Amino acid sequence: MTKHLQEEGPSGGDGRPDAEDESLLNRRSLLAGTAGLVSAMLMGSMTPAAEAATENSPEDPTRVPGATPTAYGQRSAFEKAVRIPRSWWSSLTPLQDSHGILTPSSLHFERHHNGVPTIHPTQHRLLIHGMVDQPWTFAMEDLKRFPSVSRLAFIECSGNSAAEWRGPTGQTAQQTHGLTSTSEWTGVALKTVLQEVGMNPEASWMLAEGGDAAAMTRSLPLASILEEAILCYAQNGEPLRPEQGYPLRLLIPGWEGNTCIKWLRRLKLGKAPFMTREETSQYTDLMPDGTARQFTMVMEAKSVITSPSGGQHIQPGFLEIRGLAWSGRGRIASVEVSTDGGRSWRQAALQEPILPKCHTRFHLSWRWNGEDVILQSRCLDDTGYRQPDRTALVAVRGVNSVYHYNAIQSWHIAADGKVSNVHA
Ligand code: CO
Repeated sequence: MTKHLQEEGPSGGDGRPDAEDESLLNRRSLLAGTAGLVSAMLMGSMTPAAEAATENSPEDPTRVPGATPTAYGQRSAFEKAVRIPRSWWSSLTPLQDSHGILTPSSLHFERHHNGVPTIHPTQHRLLIHGMVDQPWTFAMEDLKRFPSVSRLAFIECSGNSAAEWRGPTGQTAQQTHGLTSTSEWTGVALKTVLQEVGMNPEASWMLAEGGDAAAMTRSLPLASILEEAILCYAQNGEPLRPEQGYPLRLLIPGWEGNTCIKWLRRLKLGKAPFMTREETSQYTDLMPDGTARQFTMVMEAKSVITSPSGGQHIQPGFLEIRGLAWSGRGRIASVEVSTDGGRSWRQAALQEPILPKCHTRFHLSWRWNGEDVILQSRCLDDTGYRQPDRTALVAVRGVNSVYHYNAIQSWHIAADGKVSNVHA
């Protein structure tokens, strides 16, 4: 236990926990008994790698020399958090096992429309044409010569939580919310490259096309993306992972993941949307009156408690409620947590860094007394938009939509400590 926790409580960052919370945190309450979260590691069976490591781990590691350096690192054999490959087209990030705000590249969720292509970086080209003075083809080395930019941003699939429209479906936070991840993205600003080829000031839309077997394409309104879009070649300090678009992807911070075209090979500037199948058939939102919303790009504010969350077991006593909040419109301004199904709310602490269009970590100290309760979180972003409850969301959107489900998530804690997904 850290000195900080024992003596000062968890306050810090811009968000402040309730004064009441600090009284929960003292040496006695933290260390007494077996209170708290029983981790999946303890509850579940070990992986073969972990079993092997256990067999080989010395009784006293100070008595034997440790392992020698390796060329490319691996995590401890005792750690087993993994993505869930849900189908051939997507896999889910284990949010319930994450710490801080960054997602390891190896655990960033995947979504692809016809598999992950294998692309040779020296053969890859980006063509820019349409309403430009000088159509041009860039090699990766050309793009890397431009001034570089870097930022942390979440990418969320617009279909994240899609199965929740019709009922509580996902059993874990990974299954309900695992189509969002945060990385540091590095590349060249789109604006820089478009200025180089001479963007026609009359151009208002841009087609972006991927070099995968689906040739994934979206039309993007230039005025909305020009200041923030990045042509990325790196993620978390190394070249993009193949499943994240190696060697080049578009990043539009805060916009639905499918607009961040991976394996990017072509940009075409024009005066109108190009009406690809991904914006006429797919990625539209069917409303209760039978019309469909089109070009719904921004991912609205959303939060989820990742601990305790579905599939976990807790024991009575002190624990820290932890979770993630994010907004495609800007910064998270506050997160509130309810432990009584939404009747009352308490301010959670926000953990630095609190960045725009980026996962933000929140936490709140709590003592579970063994009663049947419902945990919820709701966030507010710096534009004043508040995450809706399910009733309010469905009142506007109905239940025919696939995309953009951002309702408050409810976790039911039964008297035996089992946590499960409910719609409250
Ligand atoms: Co949309």
